[in-house]
Amino acid sequence: MNIEQLKSFKQTGEKITCLTAYDASFALVFDECGVDVILVGDSLGNVIKGDENTLGVSMNDMVYHTQAVAKNTSQALLIADMPYQSYDKAEQTLQNAQRLIAAGAQMVKFEGGREHQACFEILQAHHIPVCGHLGLQPQSVVEMGGYKVQGRDEESAQRILEDAKALESWGVKTLVLECVPASLAKQISEQLNIPTIGIGAGLDCDGQVLVSYDMLGITQNPPKFVRNFLVNGSVESATKDFIQAVKNHTFPSDEHSFA
Ligand code: KIV
Repeated sequence: MNIEQLKSFKQTGEKITCLTAYDASFALVFDECGVDVILVGDSLGNVIKGDENTLGVSMNDMVYHTQAVAKNTSQALLIADMPYQSYDKAEQTLQNAQRLIAAGAQMVKFEGGREHQACFEILQAHHIPVCGHLGLQPQSVVEMGGYKVQGRDEESAQRILEDAKALESWGVKTLVLECVPASLAKQISEQLNIPTIGIGAGLDCDGQVLVSYDMLGITQNPPKFVRNFLVNGSVESATKDFIQAVKNHTFPSDEHSFA
């Protein structure tokens, strides 16, 4: 999968599927099952390191896990997260993004909007593909006062929409929308030319991502937007069911979305 193909999915209406992976074994299963995008998420802070949030994830952690996942990713597009405080300044953002690309990522993702203009621009100038991340930003969980749906009121919805448009203008290739009302995600997806990938953002995003440990029912007390796909009995069948459900528009349903 390359960036042009990803963009063509938006034009044809085929939904993009994305799962997180943190090691070579899961990467192989997901890649062979045909998932379109594999994300080495900083959610590894929660699911691998056992932390309460993602703030303790380091660049070294991300490089280590990206190298492992890259070894067994050949079909899917590989995106790696920039961890907390690794993109505070433009030059530092470039150096850290280059480390993740050298580790095998094809694109880097970081959270936030217009406050990071210089970081988006320096990566664009150096031809490093970027995935944006708006809505709930887990690295800002303390400022946001917990894991809450974002963009529920007119003002914050407008801010997220304007951020999304700015990111697109700075060359961002795709955009994760996390925990926003389905109606806002629909509006953003309709107004952008780049594909949106939702998590807790309703059915109208151009694709869906889940943390693989949530999708496999390993996470205790998962958020509302999670569906356990392992009910059929194997990691392969769960992965194929997830891909099928996204492609045929049956995931997420209303019970996995915010009104
Ligand atoms: O870190 C992660 O897994 C993510 C997803 C929740 C999109 O950013």
